[in-house]
Formats: sequence, structure tokens, C-alpha cells
Amino acid sequence: MPNEGSFQEAQRRSDEAWRDLREHPERHVMLSGDRPTGRLHLGHYFGTEAQRVELQDMGATCYILVADYQVITDRDTTEHIRENTCNMVLDYLAIGIDPAKTTIFAHSQVPALNQLMLPFLSLVTEAELLRNPTVKSEQEASGHALTGLLLTYPVHQACDILFCKGTLVPVGMDQLPHIEQTRQIAHRFNRRFGEVFPEPVALLSDVKLLPGLDGRKMSKSYGNAIDISMTAEETAKLIRKSRTDSERKITFDPENRPGVSALLTTAAICSGRSPEEIADEIGDAGAGALKAYVTEAVNAFFAPIRERRAELERDMDYVRDVLHEGNAKANRVADETLGQVLEAMGMVY
Ligand code: TRP
Repeated sequence: MPNEGSFQEAQRRSDEAWRDLREHPERHVMLSGDRPTGRLHLGHYFGTEAQRVELQDMGATCYILVADYQVITDRDTTEHIRENTCNMVLDYLAIGIDPAKTTIFAHSQVPALNQLMLPFLSLVTEAELLRNPTVKSEQEASGHALTGLLLTYPVHQACDILFCKGTLVPVGMDQLPHIEQTRQIAHRFNRRFGEVFPEPVALLSDVKLLPGLDGRKMSKSYGNAIDISMTAEETAKLIRKSRTDSERKITFDPENRPGVSALLTTAAICSGRSPEEIADEIGDAGAGALKAYVTEAVNAFFAPIRERRAELERDMDYVRDVLHEGNAKANRVADETLGQVLEAMGMVY
């Protein structure tokens, strides 16, 4: 009997879910989300966002949440949260998330979703919370004390996923422990109180993590991320000042030439070519030529998305309407689920 929580099992379930999704998209509910800490960048886009659009267009029921409460798991301020949330919705619409098909909402605006936290917390142990490797590494990276919210945010994420009876959660590897925890919560709730929730599956994909322009992890704080919302000129400027090395001949060698190789990877993903092929083509023309090539590839790929974004930006009332309607829909769904939860627990008076 393979270990229920093992990576191989998660991969097997994911493969099976992909197959079922292709045949019966209408049976699936996809839920996914992001913390509104800044703009979406190319790492987000090629990592998960493009896939959400694909799932939406396949015909699954889709929810995308702005995880605003999760912003304060490891920081002290909610400064810019309104602006970031609106910009996140704008980014979603620009990349092709269609509010007629996908419910976009902010989890702070859905009280019944948050109330699921109480019964769910009763279904997990202190030891389970403390051994979550992602929580641990996030706490270390933040340099903050482990707050109660950071410790329990995987349970909050279970509320996000289960309020709409999500079956599929497209995630990167770092989120896998949270999906395992969600499955356990669903399983334990159903066993203790009666069948209410599906056990959701992490939908894994083989997309490789796109590095930042300097080869390190892409992050706003490193200044190595190209945002979807940047102009062509801002993109060119960021690429121009990215660090390469003194060797003229361009080769793809991520180990020894992180800067040059990250530029090649970025160009490759935007142009649909391989990094080696691009390196060969540029050859002895050097880093300047490489940078010109990357700039052209990124700007060409994102031109239609950026154009759409600029158009939408002129009508922020519409963007807010999308969010308000999404919140209203999420509230209807959450109220119904909470009703079922209270009924299963016999708390109907
Ligand atoms: N924790 C996710 C992140 O940091 C965001 C998120 C919140 C999420 N709730 C979720 C992702 C539920 C998937 C499902 O990006």
C-alpha cells in the first residue's frame, strides 16, 4: 500500500485528475489563488496563471481568490492592500480570466468561508501544524516570530478550497503539504460528521520554475522580476541592467552562467524556442545582442495582454464590479456549504 501522503501518490492522483478533466471538465471545480502583495510577474504567468486560463477554457467550474488575509501571515502591515487587490484583478482579466466563466473574489469578503476555520481547526493537531515544511521555511524567510496565523494558514487554505467543494487545485510543489492537509480535513470531517466535502487533488504540472533575470528565484524584492503590467520601455530597462558576465560567446549553462542562462530561459519561454537554439544563434554577438533579443521576445509575447490591461485600467469601476460580483457569488456558495456543515454537526436551532 503506497503511502497516502507521498509525492508519488500525489503525482498519480494528479495524472488521473488531468485525464478525467479532459473527458469530464463539468465534473470539476478548480480553485486557485494568490496573495495580493504586488503585481503578477512572468514567474506567476508561466508557473500557474496560464494554466488557470486553460482550465477555465476547458469548461471546469473555476474560482480564483485574492488571498488578502494571507498577506498578514508574515508581515505587519496591510499597506497598499486595496491597490494590490485591484491590480491583481486587473492582471487576471488582462491575461484572459473571464468573469463570465470564473468567479474572482477576495476571501476576506466571504464570512461563511472564514467561519469554516472553527470546525476545521478541531480536525488538525498541533504536531501536524508544526511539521508543515512550507510554513517552516516561510517563517524562516520572513525573519518574524511564528504567528498563529502563519501556523494555521494551511487550514485557512482548506477553507478556501472546501467552501466551494473544490476538486482541483493547480499548485506548485511548495503548496503540496497544504493540499495534503486539506484532504485530511475533508476526510476527517466526512468521517466524523457526515459526507459534505470532496477530497481535492493537487493538479501538478511539469512547468519549470522561471528564474529571475539574475538566475535567482524570481522575486519582487530582488528586483529581478518582469511584471506583466510593465511597459515595453520598463521591460527593456530592467533587462538592460540585469547582470551577465564578461564572456562574449553566449552559451546556456545555468550552473556557471546564471545571468546569461536566465535571460536565455526567459527568451525561450516567450518565443517557444529552446534556450540552446537561441544561444547558438546569438553566438559571439555578446550580452548586448542577447538582451535585445530577450526584450523583443518578452515585449512581443505580452503586447496583447498589456494592451488589454491598459484598456481595462481606464475603467476601474468595471474592475471593481467584477470583484463585487465575484464576492457575492462566493458568499452564496459559502453560505450554502456552511449550512450543510452546521446541519451535519447538528448545530441547527
Ligand atoms: N498560499 C497561496 C500563495 O501563497 C495562495 C492561496 C491562498 C491559495 N489560498 C489558496 C492557493 C488556496 C491555492 C488554494 O500563493
